[in-house]
Amino acid sequence: MIQKQKGCNDIFGREAKIWKYVDTIIDTMMEKYNYNYIRTPIIEATELFHRGIGETTDVVIKESYDFQDKGGRNISLRPEGTAGVVRSYIENKMFGDSNQPVKVYYNGTMYRYERPQSGRDRELTQFGMEVLGSDDPLSDAEVISLAVNIYKILGLKEIKVNINSLGDNESRTNYRNALIEYFKPHISNFCEDCRERLEKNPLRILDCKVDKENTILKNAPKTIDYLNEESRIRFNKVQEYLDIMQIDYEINPTIVRGLDYYNHTVFEIEAKVEGFGSNNVLGGGGRYNGLVNQLDGPDTPCVGFACGLGRLVKALELEKVKMPIVEDIDLFLMYVNEDEKKYAAYLSQELRLAGFIVDTEYTGRALKGQFKQADRLNAKFTCVLNSEDLNNNEIKIKNNETKTEEIISLDVLIYYLDEQISALEADDNECGCDTNHCHDEKHECSGECGGKCHCHDE
Ligand code: HAM
Repeated sequence: MIQKQKGCNDIFGREAKIWKYVDTIIDTMMEKYNYNYIRTPIIEATELFHRGIGETTDVVIKESYDFQDKGGRNISLRPEGTAGVVRSYIENKMFGDSNQPVKVYYNGTMYRYERPQSGRDRELTQFGMEVLGSDDPLSDAEVISLAVNIYKILGLKEIKVNINSLGDNESRTNYRNALIEYFKPHISNFCEDCRERLEKNPLRILDCKVDKENTILKNAPKTIDYLNEESRIRFNKVQEYLDIMQIDYEINPTIVRGLDYYNHTVFEIEAKVEGFGSNNVLGGGGRYNGLVNQLDGPDTPCVGFACGLGRLVKALELEKVKMPIVEDIDLFLMYVNEDEKKYAAYLSQELRLAGFIVDTEYTGRALKGQFKQADRLNAKFTCVLNSEDLNNNEIKIKNNETKTEEIISLDVLIYYLDEQISALEADDNECGCDTNHCHDEKHECSGECGGKCHCHDE
């Protein structure tokens, strides 16, 4: 049997419905913050990632899926979305648009040749957003607030926002020098990669996966102590805007991020839910004011964020967040003979086009088996098509929960189903709560819904 590749996942059934639901919330929220959807290719020139993400990052040297195509071009599968968006911004001269800053979002597949483990895949899906052309600290705060609000609207409660600043070029250089001086006497105790990183890029020692428990590493100098006045004022402004937006955060000086393009604000959002495991960073991002220029575009200040969808869905499941996922159908049509089957084919078509979720029998089951199938599909209503009724322009519809039956005229079937299904949905939500918004802590629920609106979740 041919099996899927290591670190790749098949997503189907209920889980696939959750993914689709998460996608709709992402689209809705991005729209509210006025971010436009962008699709860039999965394959890009290898050089883009070497120059963009950094020659000394794990993502580039260890985890890159590189190959030569049949034309001898060096191609890579994208490991993240930012470099591709920046390439597209430059190539399509978006910097010349009158509408600035350019605010875009994406949701797509990325590839990293990592050692597969829980929360660390080789094929992963990220959604992310980038603001290109704004140096305003309000943009940093907006990106953080958008990420947090997507998690909140989805119903996640156990999250923690960690922020830090790497400062401008001068601050980063001072910090880099301080790190080299600090690590130099101890470097023989570190892994081979770190020894190489010392002169090339000492910041990468800080997020080494091998040496992460080393106390020398834990006591290393903190970025925040090397910020110059301008960078400090800027970082304070970001915090001020976050406070105004009522976004909870903590300053965590150990956050340096694993990609080379960052300066000033960096941040990560963690899932604090029990059982998540060590790969609990739901998403991260920050400011990258030098990247557009580094990739041959004009000087353009930028900030962005990306989140792994797999980790997000896992957090939602561990927190047992209830989601409005359709797990039932409106009507299951049953039949016995070929004429009734033909009518099932006709009627299912009509009703689906009228907006109902309809299914029927395809495997030749006897009527008893068809009833069981209707139950498995959680059909709200069932109907055994009967030639005699149909000849009289009538149809018998059964409420599959109460088991009550009604014979109605075929002429009013659509109105009847519409009315009945609306009534069932109203019963489900007696307190009038809108399930998509009931994670709002300030919402006061009457309790009549019996918990269906999620207001009663811990
Ligand atoms: P990143 O921290 O490399 O940042 O990835 C962002 C998120 O993608 C991680 O927090 C995690 O949720 C998810 N992720 C990364 N690698 C894996 C993996 N192997 N398996 C599962 N999930 C993974 C970036 O990619 C930057 N482009 C973010 C950014 C956007 N910065 C500025 N703009």
